[in-house]
Amino acid sequence: MRGRVLIIAGSDSGGGAGIQADIKAVTCLNAFAATAVTAITVQNTMGVFNIHEIPTALVAQQIEVVLSDIGADVIKTGMLATVSMINVVADCIDRIALRIPRVVDPVMRAKGGHPLLADDAAKTLIARMVRGAAVVTPNLPEAEVLIGQPIKTIADMHAAVEPLKALGADAVLLKGGHLEGHHLVDMLITRDDVKIYEDSRIDTRSTHGTGCTLASAIAAGLAQKLSLEDAVSRARIYVRKALETAPGLGQGHGPLNHAHTVVNQ
Ligand SMILES: Nc1ncnc2c1ncn2[C@@H]1O[C@H](COP(=O)(O)OP(=O)(O)OP(=O)(O)O)[C@@H](O)[C@H]1O
Ligand SMILES: [Mg+2]
Repeated sequence: MRGRVLIIAGSDSGGGAGIQADIKAVTCLNAFAATAVTAITVQNTMGVFNIHEIPTALVAQQIEVVLSDIGADVIKTGMLATVSMINVVADCIDRIALRIPRVVDPVMRAKGGHPLLADDAAKTLIARMVRGAAVVTPNLPEAEVLIGQPIKTIADMHAAVEPLKALGADAVLLKGGHLEGHHLVDMLITRDDVKIYEDSRIDTRSTHGTGCTLASAIAAGLAQKLSLEDAVSRARIYVRKALETAPGLGQGHGPLNHAHTVVNQ
């Protein structure tokens, strides 16, 4: 085991997304996962049934006690839910973890559409979490909110490059999973380069937690001192195989197979 990731995100009782997906992805890529839980979602593959937010002071305390003892090579953030949660987490990071690279997954909605971020929180998310991140990983609807322009085609994705750069993160991975059609495009946008990843879409219902899993897999790679490009490439291959070998659980958007790296058990 090599590399420590502190995950700041919400719990998904269904085990497919959120903290559960994050821990599985980090562990199955042979890094160490610690957590600060921001919310408990009551969830399965069919949808989100309830959400309990953890008091912000308790979230800050989780971050503090983990960092003061175990430490972290990378911080990964997922569901932060409200303006006050974003501010408390950002204050905590500014105070004790300013030098730790951040992978920021700007989670706004669950796969089934349930809101996971308050409508008034996007500006705060940009100012306090996205700016200065090592990499931010929006899907297309999230990127639309972040830059305030529609992204419905691959040409729109190209048109989004400069506004996404202007958000002030070191890099942006724009995920194309939400585009229609057989062709799937992700873009890794850095200060002076755009790398395009192209794949065929895997025809499956089991896509719950692809985004959380990808961001955490990237975080594990960065914690293991891979370059950003290598961390993204390995993470995409990991997610693709997890989609291909998904166990087909549940009636809705089923979970991935995070454990495909675990052999002979
Ligand atoms: N059906 C699919 N086949 C192959 N790759 C996919 C498929 N769906 C998503 N991906 C890949 O999974 C990764 C996550 O992208 P996606 O756009 O689904 O994120 P997301 O919407 O944030 O996911 P989530 O809803 O879990 O938060 C990307 O690399 C994307 O290309
Ligand atoms: Mg997502």
